[in-house]
Amino acid sequence: METHLQPTDLKNDTLLRALAREPTAYTPVWLMRQAGRYLPEYNATRARAGSFLKLAKSPALATEVALQPLERYPLDAAILFSDILTVPDAMGLGLYFAEGEGPRFERPLRDEAAIARLAVPDPALELRYVLDAVRETRRALAGRVPLIGFSGSPYTLACYMIEGSGSNDWRHVKQMRGARPDLLHRILDVNARSVTDYLNAQIEAGAQVVMLFDTWGGSLNTADYEEFSLAYMRQVLAALRPAPSIVFTKDGGAWLESIAASGCSAVGLDWTVDPREARRRIGGKVALQGNLDPAVLTTPDANVREQARRVLDAFGTAPGHIFNLGHGISPQARPDAVAALVDEVRAYSKKLRTGHG
Ligand code: CP3
Repeated sequence: METHLQPTDLKNDTLLRALAREPTAYTPVWLMRQAGRYLPEYNATRARAGSFLKLAKSPALATEVALQPLERYPLDAAILFSDILTVPDAMGLGLYFAEGEGPRFERPLRDEAAIARLAVPDPALELRYVLDAVRETRRALAGRVPLIGFSGSPYTLACYMIEGSGSNDWRHVKQMRGARPDLLHRILDVNARSVTDYLNAQIEAGAQVVMLFDTWGGSLNTADYEEFSLAYMRQVLAALRPAPSIVFTKDGGAWLESIAASGCSAVGLDWTVDPREARRRIGGKVALQGNLDPAVLTTPDANVREQARRVLDAFGTAPGHIFNLGHGISPQARPDAVAALVDEVRAYSKKLRTGHG
């Protein structure tokens, strides 16, 4: 039986308080991709599973790796171990990982007939393994910290679905936007409904916060970002069950006001955004998450600590900051650097609040 703990049953609700822009004793911290290849224990479990996809599709192993970073570091949140590309995989596009080359789809979406056939998956069927992982992770956490569920944004999923892999220029996506914007809108509409059902199913299964990863929205011009990415995230956010939500558009610094007005509880910032400016522009309306450059975690501890203090100084002590990286942690991060980071965020943010900073 799954346990339905209330947020108040959490032993550490610092993240939820910061998302609600309530005062906290220190700045909560978690790291995008906190379970991953920089951790030797992750690599060991992945080897046991046989591949990344087998790992992600096993609820027991996904639970194990989601908890690994929490065993090492006093983080303030766990994130579901999965991938954004589970949704297009459930739509039948055939996700696979070519060794060392990142994600690929066997059947990228290029022709009108395939796009017309595209359908919203039922999360309880095609994505059941993800919901099982949410339930099992939530149970294993036993109220230690909140569990974050997530999805790719409709536009970011469309990028991979059309291109069939990652890309520097998203040529096929932009060709479709120019030649057949109706087809792109059709894909985005199916994606938005899929993402809504998927996140609502995660919330029902026990996710206490949800995050939209809009990794590629920032590759669009301003008008296209509004029309092809933000409009569909707004649609998702408007239909979510009650839960705090975080929207992260990588390279979205130019559009902070409109992202903040999308209906989310918090806006994720990459490291190109000046936190002081973000606070001035939107800090009164939503919480902010970010924004240390992940490359800092490959440098000596003293620099990690100094850069962490700079980020904390820049956000200031007003409520509503969640410390994170400005993008996912890299496989080259040193585990000891992560320990130094989490320790410094806790200690220095406490000190700032008591006025001894
Ligand atoms: O944060 C967490 O710990 C949860 C797990 C998580 C993964 N992917 C696991 C993963 C999350 C939140 C994601 C999101 C994701 N996946 C995004 C959005 C965030 C971002 O980084 O921009 C994107 C674009 C993807 C698609 C994807 N999945 C790519 C591009 C890759 C290859 C990346 C690489 O570094 O090789 C993946 C694979 C992937 N997803 C790995 C992990 C831990 C590495 C796979 C492995 O173990 O071999």
